[in-house]
Amino acid sequence: MQPFHVSQSSPSPPTFPSGFLWGTATSAHQVEGDNSNNDWWTWERQPGRIARGHRAGRAGDWWRAAEADFDRMAALHQNAHRLSIEWSRLERGPGKWDDGALARYREMLTGLRQRGIAPMVTLHHFTFPLWVAARGGWLWPELPQAFARFARFAAAGLGDLVDLWCTINEPNVAVVLGYLTGRFPPGGGGLRKARDAAVNSLRAHAAAYRTLHEAQPNARVGLAANLHLFDPARPASRLDRLVAGVTDRVYNWAYLDALRDGVLRVGPRVRVPEAAGTLDFIGVNYYSRDLVQFDRRHARTLFGRHFPTPGAPISDGGYGEVYPEGLLRVLLKAHQYGVPIYVTENGLPDEDDNLRPGFLIDHLMELWRASRMGCDVRGYFHWSLIDNFEWADGWTLRFGLIAMDPETQTRTPRSSSTLYSEICRRSALPPAAIAARRVRPEIPPKE
Ligand code: BGC
Repeated sequence: MQPFHVSQSSPSPPTFPSGFLWGTATSAHQVEGDNSNNDWWTWERQPGRIARGHRAGRAGDWWRAAEADFDRMAALHQNAHRLSIEWSRLERGPGKWDDGALARYREMLTGLRQRGIAPMVTLHHFTFPLWVAARGGWLWPELPQAFARFARFAAAGLGDLVDLWCTINEPNVAVVLGYLTGRFPPGGGGLRKARDAAVNSLRAHAAAYRTLHEAQPNARVGLAANLHLFDPARPASRLDRLVAGVTDRVYNWAYLDALRDGVLRVGPRVRVPEAAGTLDFIGVNYYSRDLVQFDRRHARTLFGRHFPTPGAPISDGGYGEVYPEGLLRVLLKAHQYGVPIYVTENGLPDEDDNLRPGFLIDHLMELWRASRMGCDVRGYFHWSLIDNFEWADGWTLRFGLIAMDPETQTRTPRSSSTLYSEICRRSALPPAAIAARRVRPEIPPKE
């Protein structure tokens, strides 16, 4: 990596190092279509689970025709893409490996490479094969071994095409939404189960980490963590500070701490020694922040009432406050773990593309500042290339740089796709676009 370059005397734009990865992120179930062998497919068919009764259905039709979108990525100067492979396609039942599905993933990954797009591959992005879900999903005692077998199959079949792996996407979201709020399968269970699921996911990650390294010594293996800001609603209130601080520690950092030192500190300590030291990089998924106010009526959210900053810009459907500085803050904390960082997701639902151009510039300014302050950030994957199936929110939230109509499969680029393309092409932020944004005090250059 080249050192970050900025001239203090000339108005040259914030520039990112050579080799920086610029791309978008997607996940199998959200774009492939017809993933009928996983737990979400079944979940979507239960009444009341998904907004307006939507279903993933054909999604973005990638299983048949991803290459057309790969062409779009290349035309938009993206040099990397984060995607996931679908366990339920590759292992249709215990030990029933599907070589045809593997061949299709080989074709897709080759197609990315031929277009100069480096793949980062996630093994688990929220979906379980039905046969794993039937055995208990995150709570299945043999999950770590089964997941490691899947990792071995993936490395053996795809390892010549991939060297950047993410084991699990957002285990904190999977556990909180799966076992506490119930918005994701299995639809609830309570605190004890949530903690057991988190522990088992740590074991599964650790087993996959080792397996990938055995099969592919040069692989770089990490995990994508959802890092969310929780700030006290009334900074002078000790209780607000306490509740926001505990939420921050439990939701954001307890899991990464366990991957560093092998102890999960949420309630009674649980030792997971095999998890210690199993991160070659941290994937940071950053979207937004909540203000947190102590309220004894909100036991399920650790006695905090959560809301956005009054007056702040909010993305579609009340998804979240737009808070770019939060990216700098989470990157600085993630940096303390001492491994390189990729921003593996960052984006917003904004169907009319009113906020997205400013969102892009402001967040990338913060990323650049983080780098200037010493964070080893090596890539940025915007969520997402095209509108895709947004889990419990169905098709109601539109995250794409390119609008996509799931009925007709029509693609219509939003104007922010052109802006992002310009950023990717130059590996720098266009001065004119920055000039139009609010200005924050400059960070002194690194010696
Ligand atoms: C998930 C994505 C999701 C995105 C937007 C992330 O938490 O990894 O699958 O679509 O957020 O909500």
